[in-house]
Amino acid sequence: KPRLLSGMQPSADSLHLGNYIGALLSWKALQETHDAFFFLADLHAITVPQDPIALRENTRRTTAQYIAAGIDPTRSTLFVQSHVPAHAELAWVLNTITGFGEAARMTQFKDKASKQGQEAASVGLFTYPVLQAGDILLYQAVDVPVGEDQRQHIELTRDLANRFNARFGDTFTVPKPYILKDTAKIFDLQNPTAKMSKSSESTSGLIWLLDEPKITEKKIMRAVTDADGEVRFDRELKPGLANLLTVFAILTDRTVDDVVEEFAGGGYGTLKKALAEVVVETVAPIRQRTLELLDDPGELDRILSVNADRANEVAEATLATVYDRVGLLPRR
Ligand code: TYM
Repeated sequence: KPRLLSGMQPSADSLHLGNYIGALLSWKALQETHDAFFFLADLHAITVPQDPIALRENTRRTTAQYIAAGIDPTRSTLFVQSHVPAHAELAWVLNTITGFGEAARMTQFKDKASKQGQEAASVGLFTYPVLQAGDILLYQAVDVPVGEDQRQHIELTRDLANRFNARFGDTFTVPKPYILKDTAKIFDLQNPTAKMSKSSESTSGLIWLLDEPKITEKKIMRAVTDADGEVRFDRELKPGLANLLTVFAILTDRTVDDVVEEFAGGGYGTLKKALAEVVVETVAPIRQRTLELLDDPGELDRILSVNADRANEVAEATLATVYDRVGLLPRR
């Protein structure tokens, strides 16, 4: 089976609908056909300030949401990044072959740094994509299923893999981004030209997986649309409606055209009501299951521990080869 790897930052107490549609949905399907590794990117999360108590708790909560959304920790390897020391170690080596200018061109860094002010941004945030490259290369992953916002980081990973292979001999598998066109970007319900994001200013445009069903419904009913009132798909002129139609189509496994046909002629209210039902039907069971799993944190920790052993085995082998190729003297 081809190797696959992906992860998310446990930087909030709930994942959102963008994470679910852009990542979890395809992860769930791909774990059937791939030797899949899914992880909690806690080392990435601390590149911006986190409350230590919340981070620890959110790491468990995010784990529970992966499982509740269908990731099977006996079939896939589900682990915490910091439980596998090789991530930080490989990142260091990759840092030494990454150009300063190359890292400075990463748009996610520029966005996040400008939010905090260039001076306040950490060096960790700067080198974040290099850590991500290490995540992927450690497992020799071929496919990396992510949303559109991660494309540049996968491109960097490919560049670093090729560079390392050229300089030190064939070591890394060069990965491919696995980005589904339609699900790659879900937009904020209040600001439908911006992606749905944990870091958006107001939370009313975000559907959290752990929101209560009533709140989910309310957020969808209040989603920003447009004044012309006609149900048709137009990403440019009607971005709010286009987003709602996209979500509807994905969650019901239909085409956008099919959905448009059903609701054409009706008002936006009818569409929103139906969408709210569809979203709640998807999200409520995940929420329910997550809360059940969180009742037994010991069991979650046990799952993570067993899976960390499996991840360490693969990661340590790659790291040993890398250290050897680079010329580090092994300890005897
Ligand atoms: P993160 O935690 O920001 O997001 C997790 C996943 O969700 C996708 N996503 C979206 N998809 C569609 N619409 C949206 N509005 C939306 N918002 C988020 C992201 O594309 C991502 O797939 N750097 C990564 C974490 C990471 C990683 C890795 C991923 C660290 N190492 C190695 C893959 C491989 C991140 O911050 O994702």
